[in-house]
Amino acid sequence: MAIAPAAAPSSAVTAARQTETRTPPRYAWSPALKAEMAEMYERVRHVITPMEWPHYAPLIKSINELKKERNAVVLAHNYMTPEIFHCVADFRGDSLQLANEAARTDAEVIVQAGVHFMAETSKLLSPDKMVLIPDMRAGCSLAASITPEDVRMLREAYPGAPIVTYVNTSAAVKAECDITCTSSNAVKVVESLNAPRVICIPDQYLAKWVQSQTKVEVITWKGACEVHERFTGAELSRMRDDEPGLKIIAHPECPPDVIAVADFTGSTAKMINWVKDKRPPKVMLVTECSMASNVAVEVPDVDFIRPCNLCPHMKRISLEGIYESLVHLKHEVTVDPDVVDRARRAVERMVNLTN
Ligand code: 13P
Ligand code: SF4
Repeated sequence: MAIAPAAAPSSAVTAARQTETRTPPRYAWSPALKAEMAEMYERVRHVITPMEWPHYAPLIKSINELKKERNAVVLAHNYMTPEIFHCVADFRGDSLQLANEAARTDAEVIVQAGVHFMAETSKLLSPDKMVLIPDMRAGCSLAASITPEDVRMLREAYPGAPIVTYVNTSAAVKAECDITCTSSNAVKVVESLNAPRVICIPDQYLAKWVQSQTKVEVITWKGACEVHERFTGAELSRMRDDEPGLKIIAHPECPPDVIAVADFTGSTAKMINWVKDKRPPKVMLVTECSMASNVAVEVPDVDFIRPCNLCPHMKRISLEGIYESLVHLKHEVTVDPDVVDRARRAVERMVNLTN
């Protein structure tokens, strides 16, 4: 497998959630609200403390009411925190599942509880809907690692090789590529092109993992996810020694030494399905930290050993931000008219292939 020249360094945004003045929720915490929301709390009480609930509950009730008034849906990625994931999301999933929901929904407004490239993908697939993201700064180190000019340079350097881009890129980058993929369908997409050599950008680790699953020659780029690249195989092996019987499952954005020690590798949705299906007594999800809390709600019998790497971009999204988004219909995500048709073609080609 070949790796193309280094991209601009990954952006390492170390961000806290927005703290500016917010619109107060419609409801205040009260004994009546506590009783009304007791059933919902019961479901999440293992992952949301009794101290946090009086803060979240008024926002949750306000958001759920406002969604109906606006004919809006919240699409939440698996990395959202549990109060978002379990209490206000209408659809939950990995990048592919959320893209499919965006294409299907009848709602007039989509609030993307995820990062900017996910909101752009929703807009590409649902051009007539209003797509909102609660915080425009929710980026991604992979999306920041490559530009449209870089893609044009790769096309020149490898004439005739089709270009597959991970959805974790801007619409402008997608517009330069033949088809998109997600971690859930990357191998299938690469093989669908019937080419001996395929360029797979921008994540060097996802590309290496794809290379390990296919005979197609994979050329890649030097991008990396700032969350997953921090894990090491050595640290995971030590944890397994400390916790006999521990199952380790990893996201394909992890480096190869991590994948080598993992019992299973797959997209966030595939990791969740693996845990629900196998029910290991002890498991470690080698991915963003919030996912373990979200799955724990559904499989209380499984003990999660949590390596806590947070994605600073995903963590920009909060209940306050979602509420604000619905109150003021902000921040609207649009796609540059110069790239929209070509970017949509690349995403639709993937959606049609995997459906
Ligand atoms: P999934 O498509 O597996 O959810 O991955 C998206 C992502 O950003 C992982 O870091
Ligand atoms: Fe991007 Fe990594 Fe965050 Fe996913 S976890 S959004 S790939 S930086």
